[in-house]
Amino acid sequence: MQVDYRLRAEDTVDSPALLVYPDLVQRNIACMVRWAGGPQRLCPHVKTHKTRQIVDMLLGAGVQRHKCATLAEAELLALAGAPQVLIAYPLVGPKLQRLAELIRRYPATRFATLVDHPGSLAALAEVMRQGGVTVGVLVDLNVGQHRTGVAPGPAAAALYRQAATLPGVRPEGFHVYDGHNNAVDPQHRHATAQQFWQQVLALRQQLEHMGLAVPRLVVGGTPSFPVHCRWQDIPGLECSPGTFVLYDAGYGSKYADLAELTPAAVLLTRVVSRPQPDRVTFDLGTKAVAADPPMDRRVRFCHLDNYTVVAHNEEHLVIQTDQADQFQPGDTAYALPGHVCPTVALYRELLVVRNGCVVDRWEVVARDRRLTI
Ligand SMILES: Cc1ncc(COP(=O)(O)O)c(C=O)c1O
Repeated sequence: MQVDYRLRAEDTVDSPALLVYPDLVQRNIACMVRWAGGPQRLCPHVKTHKTRQIVDMLLGAGVQRHKCATLAEAELLALAGAPQVLIAYPLVGPKLQRLAELIRRYPATRFATLVDHPGSLAALAEVMRQGGVTVGVLVDLNVGQHRTGVAPGPAAAALYRQAATLPGVRPEGFHVYDGHNNAVDPQHRHATAQQFWQQVLALRQQLEHMGLAVPRLVVGGTPSFPVHCRWQDIPGLECSPGTFVLYDAGYGSKYADLAELTPAAVLLTRVVSRPQPDRVTFDLGTKAVAADPPMDRRVRFCHLDNYTVVAHNEEHLVIQTDQADQFQPGDTAYALPGHVCPTVALYRELLVVRNGCVVDRWEVVARDRRLTI
């Protein structure tokens, strides 16, 4: 969808700023609920937006289960009244005590976390037991990303059985994140997923034959979402995309099968210098837009076609373009972030735009690592 992101009264809004368009967020959420076949088959990741207002929109759409990576995000979700929260990160060290406190403090929310190692499972269970609480655990299956998790085989089965014997933890299913499954061709993503699904479902069956329930399968991110959401007949499947809610230029330029999504967060920037005839410098440094994509993919300017990013420093982004004459210091421009999730985390607040006007500010509450616990 072609969107005109421009503000009507630009002069009153300082830059750099991250603008968010609630109508587009709502549209992306509706699209995901429809693709998933209902909100009960979603467990979206809050890390993309970290804001209370977007959590409220998801709850309003009927999404009960939510995923997060940090304890601050978990607390934000609990404060918003999310019924179920999965902390999809291996918790170690002082985080175990913090988790016990979180569970005590928010009894209306049912919390779960991941395990992928017998030692860390035992440590988690012991701290929960001592704290007088119980946490759900999902065994984190390594289906090819090789970042965390245990291969879907005998070690994973043993871990699940171990969880079933320990007080303080409650085995609830598998976490199956396929971050490596990001080929441009959707057929390729489908084939990759089919391979690991066979192993995951065989493992589930094996445990069920032993009398252990494996109710939840929390699966994937945005690129594999169109693949997994087609398997409507797998019981307990919950898709866990994050980026979909705000979407960005990185995924937008790569995945034709996600074309129904619309970027809902846009950077407002200004020209600060014209150091050479073919160069334009914007106030969009690495402290204003995430620097994890390669330099030429960190931003995509709207209304500008031929340019190359030639430098990106803390407070400056320099492009080279044969259209440089069109820009003077002070001019505004709009740009889509290449990777929206870490870009959001650079801002204390998102400026909320309706009908071309900034009408509100949403605090990025969980950009810090700690709220109150
Ligand atoms: C464990 C986990 N689940 C879900 C997601 C969401 O993925 P995406 O941002 O591609 O939607 C991520 C992304 O980093 C993740 O690490």
